Amino acid sequence: MASRVLLILCLSSLFFFLAASTKEYPSQAKIFDVRNYGAHGDGRRDNAFSFTKAWNEACQWSNGRSTVYIPPGIFYLRQVTFTGPCKNPITFIIRGTLLAPRNPYAIKQDEWILFKYVDNLTVTGGGLLDGQGSYSWPLNDCNKNTNCRTLAMNIGFAFVKSSKINGLRSINSKMGHFNLFSVEDFNITGVTITAPGDSPNTDGIKIGKSSHMNIFNVTIGTGDDCIAILDGTSNLDISDVRCGPGHGISVGSLGRYKEEKNVQGLTVRNSIINGTTDGLRIKTWAKSVSQISVSNFLYENIQMINVGNPIVIDQQYCPHGQCDSPGKYASHVQIKDVKYNKIWGTSTSKEALKMQCSKAFPCQDVELSNINLKYVGRDGLVTALCENVGGSIRGKIVPANCRI
Ligand SMILES: *[C@@H]1O[C@H](CO)[C@@H](O)[C@H](O)[C@H]1NC(C)=O
Ligand SMILES: *[C@@H]1O[C@H](CO)[C@@H](O)[C@H](O)[C@H]1NC(C)=O
Ligand SMILES: *[C@@H]1O[C@H](CO)[C@@H](O)[C@H](O)[C@H]1NC(C)=O
Ligand SMILES: *[C@@H]1O[C@H](CO)[C@@H](O)[C@H](O)[C@H]1NC(C)=O
Repeated sequence: MASRVLLILCLSSLFFFLAASTKEYPSQAKIFDVRNYGAHGDGRRDNAFSFTKAWNEACQWSNGRSTVYIPPGIFYLRQVTFTGPCKNPITFIIRGTLLAPRNPYAIKQDEWILFKYVDNLTVTGGGLLDGQGSYSWPLNDCNKNTNCRTLAMNIGFAFVKSSKINGLRSINSKMGHFNLFSVEDFNITGVTITAPGDSPNTDGIKIGKSSHMNIFNVTIGTGDDCIAILDGTSNLDISDVRCGPGHGISVGSLGRYKEEKNVQGLTVRNSIINGTTDGLRIKTWAKSVSQISVSNFLYENIQMINVGNPIVIDQQYCPHGQCDSPGKYASHVQIKDVKYNKIWGTSTSKEALKMQCSKAFPCQDVELSNINLKYVGRDGLVTALCENVGGSIRGKIVPANCRI
């Protein structure tokens, strides 16, 4: 009897709890399923029109949160732009595969899929963006031709605030995969980005003019930078990245254009860089016009596995023979307050630590501690090259011959 009373009491308090919690969130998100707007997951018919219609209705929904839902299936999409501002927070769930056109010139914008002027956006669902880049990689001559035609990146976010991408896969972009431009308070988690190690310009995540971003628990293997950080970026926190193949985590190239802005407040922690050409790299043009600074960086607890050049500062960047003679120009980019702590593992080149700072603006307050890099070859010992570097070394580091 007593236990029955107790059970009833429990049930009624559970009921109260549920009632109270639904009261707290009065409106469930309204679902806008793309199938109700004529989308077909047959991998053939273009879905741009129905996706845009679903987005526009969801975005203008004024009674609470809204969700655009793309179910499992293969949804061909020529190109699409989802524009805000929206009335309320909006979630974009991709369960299926979005398939890009094979012909790169069919896409007439910088990103195949673009979100712009949106706040409080969540893109999630574990779905796949397939850029079908293998059809256009042979047409890419950007490594030889500075005026080459650029191709679309898989997905872009421009002027987007307080938003996140969580659980999304991207493969075989025509050029880069994720492009973030002028975003603020933006998080990327649980994302997997894949393209072959020899595919041209397939950067993983490219970030410019953005602030207060977190990148956490991502796996990136491509033919270019895993993460490329461009000018005007501040307060970027990167951790738990598995990077490789590719060109590592790069800042730059910086300094080439007049209107560039500083890069400050970068942390890269608890990550593995595996089989890349470079590891942690900062690159500025030797022939530079902007007097910007790169400051307040921390690289910590990073394992290198067979990385070409694990630690690089290159202020003499001048590809395609654009400097009349080597050493003629000195970068105007000031690098300062950059810490490297607990960087360890293997290098496939002898010069595992290479810092060539500007003669005109030497690096300041570079701090090296707990560095232990081994050369995997047998024809010599690991070594460091440090030019125009000011700062300090704490404790023992290997390679040890860096004079700063
Ligand atoms: C986004 O969220 C912020 C903070 O919760 C809120 O102030 C703002 O009105 C929201 N904007 C939209 C468009 O949902
Ligand atoms: C991003 O992550 C940080 C740290 O976990 C958190 O404080 C912030 O609110 C998150 N922002 C968004 C938009 O999810
Ligand atoms: C990391 O992301 C993967 C998806 O790529 C997910 O399955 C896993 O649970 C995430 N781990 C953490 C610690 O968030
Ligand atoms: C490094 O990459 C190699 C080659 O892809 C792979 O076999 C190995 O498991 C990776 N190691 C780690 C620790 O991720």
